Amino acid sequence: MPIAYTKEQGTHEERRTFAIISHPDAGKTTLTEKLLLFGGAIREAGAVKGKKARRHATSDWMEIEKQRGISVTSTVLQFGYRNRRINILDTPGHEDFSEDTYRTLTAADSAVMLIDAAKGVEPQTIKLFEVCRMRGIPIFTFINKLDRQGKEPLALLEELEDVLGIRSCPMNWPIGMGQDFRGIYNRRDTRFERYTSRGEETSNIQADDIDSPVLRDALGPELHDQLKDEVMLLDIAGDPFDPELIAQGKLTPVFFGSAIANFGVETFLNEFIDLAPAPGVRQTDQGPVAPADKSFSGFVFKIQANMNPAHRDRVAFIRICSGKFERGISVNHVRTGKKVNLAQPQQFFGQGREIIEEAYPGDIIGIFDPGVFRIGDTICESGSFHFEKLPMFSPEHFARVSVKNTLKYKQFHKGIEQLSEEGAIQVFRQANRTEDLVLGAVGQLQFEVFEHRMKSEYGAEVELINLPYSFARWIETTQDVEKLSYDRYSNIIVKDKDERVVMLFPNEFSIRWLIDKNPGVVLHSTSFDM
Ligand code: G4P
Repeated sequence: MPIAYTKEQGTHEERRTFAIISHPDAGKTTLTEKLLLFGGAIREAGAVKGKKARRHATSDWMEIEKQRGISVTSTVLQFGYRNRRINILDTPGHEDFSEDTYRTLTAADSAVMLIDAAKGVEPQTIKLFEVCRMRGIPIFTFINKLDRQGKEPLALLEELEDVLGIRSCPMNWPIGMGQDFRGIYNRRDTRFERYTSRGEETSNIQADDIDSPVLRDALGPELHDQLKDEVMLLDIAGDPFDPELIAQGKLTPVFFGSAIANFGVETFLNEFIDLAPAPGVRQTDQGPVAPADKSFSGFVFKIQANMNPAHRDRVAFIRICSGKFERGISVNHVRTGKKVNLAQPQQFFGQGREIIEEAYPGDIIGIFDPGVFRIGDTICESGSFHFEKLPMFSPEHFARVSVKNTLKYKQFHKGIEQLSEEGAIQVFRQANRTEDLVLGAVGQLQFEVFEHRMKSEYGAEVELINLPYSFARWIETTQDVEKLSYDRYSNIIVKDKDERVVMLFPNEFSIRWLIDKNPGVVLHSTSFDM
């Protein structure tokens, strides 16, 4: 039963599929709303619920959502803009930050990195950036909240380089900030956009070059001189605009603006549309698959359970990589070797989502899943190949789990197996301790969701005891891991669900210690590198 979010057609060349990566409160919801406004997907600001409103408006498909008032699930938004179809993948951010957030990035072709000008590069942004870097996708930076006093623009660029190690190329440059914010100067088309407070029409002043008298008139001599100096510095000392490097994710174009005032957003969107890549070639174990290939293929990057409390529905989200999806298509489910018909009776779910007849590479479709799919599964119309494996990311929270009532042991194991296959939680086993397991999660909330689902879906109440670890490292060594030199009080060795050896660490110091003491041992922060 396919579900997607639009009736609009087109081909993959028009698709731009991206995720916004940011730290909570940087303004992702606000920016998304403005992008939707430009796309005509919503008519007025406020249609996307603000955080406070969201607390009361979350769907009630799951008790935990109600209890915590947050959305545990993520969605895809599609809209048309100019001649493009845009898919924004929502990356769950706040307490619901989880492995899903990372995996969603594997379905994106580019990322928009949103930064609060006052806060600079924050921890969650760093983590998400690393995943994007690993994939080599282009990253576009939007520095937000210029209507408030923040860090100096040059200091922010330096931070990008120092903290994230990425070179930057400002596409526009702010004039003033906070109370003194006057607007942005667009370097490529030498256009000054005057800052207007919320709701007012932006006014543009087109200059022939930066020395133009119309700019001087508009800014006054002092600000104009300051702008000239700063832009000259960028011209001389900054990185030049280089589409090649941008495409490789080695240079990030930087835009300034204020999402709340809807200022700089349209300029950003227009440049983004021109520079962001259409869906590209993806690697498989049988060679590359191009979006223009006739035969349909895709992979499951997320499974969402219990969308509807009345049914035990699961929805598998599939990123289309090649061909054309048509309702009723019959595909090979490569892992099991079975044929799956994507044409069972259809249902609507959620609000405003529509059943689709066809979809193209770059699009995300939701398939009601009777329990067939796992994260990372490939489906294809012809042939039998696997897209590159989705990595497991290092959890940051660990807990020992056991079943409260031993009579429920069978249900406990079934639940653990299914939830780990679904990717809701990572499960590790420790040699000599088969009676209990170690769970890993990227966000603490995953444990709560796990506990809740074990009880409500499998009838097994569990006991969780938090463990003092914060890092998992997949170990690459030719030696017997037990013989490695490591601190048995602070680290433990476990195996993941694919029997790979993993060590758990309480802090970065203990990771460095192990590397120092064991030359030749390589530690990986994801299973991807193995
Ligand atoms: P998030 O999804 O990244 O967590 O951020 P969100 O858009 O919810 O924005 C976080 C807060 O920052 C909100 O204020 C929002 O209004 C504010 N904000 C977003 N963009 C800008 C901007 O360009 N300038 C300024 N000054 N503020 C901005 P809040 O008071 O926490 O929530 P709300 O009551 O406005 O919903």
